[in-house]
Amino acid sequence: MKSDLAQVVVSEDEIKHRIAELGNQLTELYRKKGVEEISAICITNGSIMFAADLLRHFNLHARLDCVRVSSYKDEDRPVTEPEIIDQIRLDLTGQHVLLIDDILDTGRTLDKVTRILRAQKPASLHTCVLLNKKRRKQVKSAPDFVGFTIPDHFVVGYGLDFAERYRNLPCIGVLKPELQNPPNWCAARKDEQPASRR
Ligand code: IMP
Ligand code: MG
Repeated sequence: MKSDLAQVVVSEDEIKHRIAELGNQLTELYRKKGVEEISAICITNGSIMFAADLLRHFNLHARLDCVRVSSYKDEDRPVTEPEIIDQIRLDLTGQHVLLIDDILDTGRTLDKVTRILRAQKPASLHTCVLLNKKRRKQVKSAPDFVGFTIPDHFVVGYGLDFAERYRNLPCIGVLKPELQNPPNWCAARKDEQPASRR
C-alpha cells in the first residue's frame, strides 16, 4: 500500500513521537486547570486513528463520543457543505470538551462542529487537529493544538482517505497521480504487478 504513494509527508515515527508530545501537553493543560475529566469528541471517520492514539497518551479520565461528518464525495476537494450524519449522544453541558479532527483544510468542518458543541454550553472547548494544511482558510478560528503543518496537497493515510481507502496506512503521504482518479482506481491497481507474494 505504501508503494501507492508518490511522497511520504509525515512518517510513522514522526506521527508516534508528535502524538506522545501532544498527549502530554494536553494532560498538563487540563491538570493545571484542575480538570479531572474531559469529554473527547472525535470527528469520524478521519480522526479515528489519531483520537485512538492521542487518548492513550492522555493521562486523565476521558469520556469519548463521535460526531460523523461528511464533506467529500469521493473527490479530493470539498463539493458539499460539511454535513452532520450522526450526532453525539453525550451531554456536554458544563463539561471540558476536547474536539479532535484529522486535518484542517478550509476549516469549515471544525467551525461547524465547534458551533454545534458550543450550543451545549460546555465549561471549556479546545480543538486539536493532527494536520493543518497551508492554505487560505474560509473561517477565522484557528485550532488550539496542531500536530503538523503540511503543504497544500491532498494526503492519505493514518485515518485520512481517498474514496474510503488508505485510512489504515500507518504514515501520511501523497498518492501517485495515476491513483488519484476514483473511476480509474481499480483499473490502475490491476495494472500493477505485485513485487512478491507476502
Ligand atoms: P475542511 O472542512 O475543509 O477543513 O475539511 C476537513 C475534512 O476534510 C477533514 O476532516 C477530512 O476528512 C477532509 N480532508 C481535508 N483535506 C483532506 C486531505 O488532504 N485528505 C483527506 N481528507 C481531507
Ligand atoms: Mg475524508
